[in-house]
Amino acid sequence: EKQGFKHFMLKEIYEQPGVVRTCVETYLDTTWSSDRDTNPVTLGLADDLFTDLEHVQIVACGTSWHASLVGKYLIEQLAGIPTMVQYASEFRYSPSPLTRHTLTIGVTQSGETADTLAALEMEQKRRQATEDLALAPRMLGITNRPESSLARLVPHIIDTHAGIEIGVAATKTFIAQVMAFYFLALDLAYRRQTLKPERIEQIIEELRQMPGQIEAVLESQERYIEELAHNFSETQDFIFLGRGINFPIALEGALKLKEISYIHAEGYPAGEMKHGPIALLDAKVPVVAIAMPGTVYDKVLSNAQEAKARDAQLIGVVPLNDEEAEFTFNSLLPVPPVDELLSPILTVIPLQLLAYHIAARRGLDVDQPRNLAKSVTVE
Ligand code: F6R
Repeated sequence: EKQGFKHFMLKEIYEQPGVVRTCVETYLDTTWSSDRDTNPVTLGLADDLFTDLEHVQIVACGTSWHASLVGKYLIEQLAGIPTMVQYASEFRYSPSPLTRHTLTIGVTQSGETADTLAALEMEQKRRQATEDLALAPRMLGITNRPESSLARLVPHIIDTHAGIEIGVAATKTFIAQVMAFYFLALDLAYRRQTLKPERIEQIIEELRQMPGQIEAVLESQERYIEELAHNFSETQDFIFLGRGINFPIALEGALKLKEISYIHAEGYPAGEMKHGPIALLDAKVPVVAIAMPGTVYDKVLSNAQEAKARDAQLIGVVPLNDEEAEFTFNSLLPVPPVDELLSPILTVIPLQLLAYHIAARRGLDVDQPRNLAKSVTVE
């Protein structure tokens, strides 16, 4: 069943180009062009979810929470709608005050996470209890299990079509959730006319190229990352840095590493390092920084240099053939230089491989890490 791969996790990492291809084929009208007056996104969501929409609030846990943070950037930047992302376990007991015309989204690959389901149920009930129509519930689920408890709780679902994931560490379901947010953000942008049709066409074209780009990263990086992993068999702490839309990817890289390798890892917004975590740095703490072309590229490079000045070993997820990056980092994990907004789909791939190879090198049970379960159905 592992089709020649040593672990399900590695097999599932390699399934990601196919998952992205399926998502694009399922949810985008790939023949769309900027002169058409039809919606390029085929999520099939009911219009009344979106009427007069003023806010989006998202609840999720773990890796799904990271995908939701990417979603926040996309919805805010492409569709201009203020978006809040909450941990379901926090939101349940300290919900934000009700906002008007709000779309509530629950993100859970299993569709069974107890905290996420309870947060959604609580939100639905408290909104139903008000008479004010502007506060009425509008609920949407994003899940890989359209037959799950989530689907029975909320009236609208985006099925992420990643196929069953066996490795406990989420990889292909994460990519598929992120894809769902591109489609949702584009759908909203089209309805609200926040983007020029040419820009929509450009994003669709870039999304269509993603499967090939992920394949290129997998092919060019795996051997190198497997070698690189040898350096970290004794490492106890890692720091992951990112900014903007790649900040959630730094969080995700750190989470993948800690859950399967049991190495302590922290993800941080690169600009926050100087407010505390920089005190941790020395030659024993490797720093992984994501520095992709766009609004924060120079800033991340200078944050990385601050770490270098403390003797940290620097690993960079950087654009291919970039001299400045080659000069800054000790090790390079290059990915094709795509539009900043699309870059998380590529930057997460080397981080998944890094976590996988470090854990495999340590001889750990990658698919069944200690203390973890695939569905967390208890509080
Ligand atoms: C990370 C991981 C967990 C889950 C979390 C939420 O690799 O597997 O952090 O992401 O338990 O699970 P779902 O998405 O099923 O709600």
